[in-house]
Amino acid sequence: MRFLLLLSALVLSTAAGTVESLANQCCATLSNIIPNNVFFPNDTAYMQEEITYYSAQQTSQKPACRVSPTTASEVSQIIDQATRLGCHFAVRSGGHMNWKGSSNIGPSGFTIDLEQLNSVSLSSDQKTATLQPGAPWSQVYDTLSPLNLTVVGGRASTVGVGGFLMGEIVLSNGTIVTASASENADLHWALGLGSTNYGVVTSYTLETFPLGDMWGGTISLDISQAPAILNYLANFTLKLADDPRGLSAVTLAWNETSRDYDLFVSTAYLLPVSFPPLFSGLEPFVPDATSDTLTITNITAITADFAAGDPSGFRTAWWTLTFELDPQTVLEVFQYGQELFSDLVAVNGTQWSLNIQPINQDFIKATEAANNPAGLEGDNLFLILEHVIWTDASLDDVIEARSREFLAWAEFIASERGVLNRFLYLNYADGSQPIYKQIGSSNLASLQEVKRQYDPDNLLGRLWKGGFKLP
Ligand SMILES: *[C@@H]1O[C@H](CO)[C@@H](O)[C@H](O)[C@H]1NC(C)=O
Ligand SMILES: *[C@@H]1O[C@H](CO)[C@@H](O)[C@H](O)[C@H]1NC(C)=O
Ligand SMILES: *[C@@H]1O[C@H](CO)[C@@H](O)[C@H](O)[C@H]1NC(C)=O
Ligand SMILES: *[C@@H]1O[C@H](CO)[C@@H](O)[C@H](O)[C@H]1NC(C)=O
Ligand SMILES: *[C@@H]1O[C@H](CO)[C@@H](O)[C@H](O)[C@H]1NC(C)=O
Ligand SMILES: *[C@@H]1O[C@H](CO)[C@@H](O)[C@H](O)[C@H]1NC(C)=O
Ligand SMILES: *[C@@H]1O[C@H](CO)[C@@H](O)[C@H](O)[C@H]1NC(C)=O
Repeated sequence: MRFLLLLSALVLSTAAGTVESLANQCCATLSNIIPNNVFFPNDTAYMQEEITYYSAQQTSQKPACRVSPTTASEVSQIIDQATRLGCHFAVRSGGHMNWKGSSNIGPSGFTIDLEQLNSVSLSSDQKTATLQPGAPWSQVYDTLSPLNLTVVGGRASTVGVGGFLMGEIVLSNGTIVTASASENADLHWALGLGSTNYGVVTSYTLETFPLGDMWGGTISLDISQAPAILNYLANFTLKLADDPRGLSAVTLAWNETSRDYDLFVSTAYLLPVSFPPLFSGLEPFVPDATSDTLTITNITAITADFAAGDPSGFRTAWWTLTFELDPQTVLEVFQYGQELFSDLVAVNGTQWSLNIQPINQDFIKATEAANNPAGLEGDNLFLILEHVIWTDASLDDVIEARSREFLAWAEFIASERGVLNRFLYLNYADGSQPIYKQIGSSNLASLQEVKRQYDPDNLLGRLWKGGFKLP
């Protein structure tokens, strides 16, 4: 028995050694093909890329090398080599995903860092913009905003293009194809929930629309206003049916300095008008605000304001759920979180928050009309994001376990109340959440069929680590 155990430990360690030496071999091969853009741990460029992840747990992973292609053809060469040699790899665009291993890998593989594929260009008629995945939304807005144009993009300026959307894509066999409504339409559809299953997208073409100055910013209120503000948010969500041009998102967050909870309402409206009727329910709260950045400005400034509330460089744990418009359930979940994290917030550098965003029924109808593979159903909904940040690595296990315990409880209580919606927003989900089990069996079967066509041997399932994998 002991002999057997020893043997299996030996086999395991040999296997790990083999994987690492394979990774080193992959890096050496790539550095012959793309000599100037393969970075090793002893290169400054390697560290510069590592420290720009949103989450500190991702920065803590040290791949055998980082490869920064500058063209789609280089991406194709990299994927071709990786699948030929059997190299494990991860792919990073903006690097804003929250969980360890979602867009980075340890010494058992290498990371394709798309930071140099970051151009933003406009068609000559200005009707479409072509974005590369490594560009942050701030760069997109900075380019389009002086022309009074925009595209549908991220709420926080620091998030990258690649992770947010799913154009031109490099498949597992290295072929570069275009995916659009008219070309490879099945792939185009699947990329709506594609994650790391179909290939590496190297450019996206989006329709532009006019946008001049707009109104927005954040107000802070005493936490005692939480019930009233959630009631406001429920009303606001319904009112989006009459005027869809606005956003209000509520955050209930531990403030380390005051050692108490704060409440934030982040708001934006796509016209340069203060307090249009859509926000009439918010106006009465303004005299009590402890801070207020609401102003008429441009989209660059507003998305920077939103990003400022969510700094990078911390260790992070997130999860998401979707509820019916039920303020009471949100309040109970918040109450439970306060109890659950009461010991942890006593440790400096540890904070948690609950963020609630509206999903209006017309938005759901539009995703249905577009046949979006996420299978979003229902009337008006609250999208919930739970978010913990901390600094001390020795707390990783306890905080990750606590955050998942919180998720299980919140899911249970919402389900008991009959207010749980099946939708799980991929960009906010923890790596443990079953993204693809919640989309309906027909969507799942269709995604799997597209997978069989474009990656028949599941090379990307085996070699590309991170993201969410189709079951
Ligand atoms: C850096 O590391 C790589 C890979 O291990 C090696 O080939 C290279 O010689 C090293 N460069 C320097 C300056 O040490
Ligand atoms: C957006 O607003 C900010 C802050 O007022 C300003 O510095 C920046 O120049 C503006 N950008 C554009 C494109 O107008
Ligand atoms: C953008 O809109 C502003 C305000 O209406 C206007 O002053 C400016 O000339 C416009 N810029 C362009 C490039 O059309
Ligand atoms: C929500 O809407 C209801 C019905 O229109 C109204 O009575 C209530 O005051 C509103 N609540 C808030 C916080 O605006
Ligand atoms: C936290 O509380 C302090 C003290 O009350 C306040 O100055 C600060 O603005 C608050 N932080 C945030 C992010 O609101
Ligand atoms: C937390 O940090 C503050 C200031 O940064 C310090 O005064 C306080 O002693 C620290 N508390 C603990 C428990 O370390
Ligand atoms: C790569 O895969 C695609 C999709 O399966 C296929 O159409 C194409 O012919 C393949 N290319 C090569 C070179 O095998």
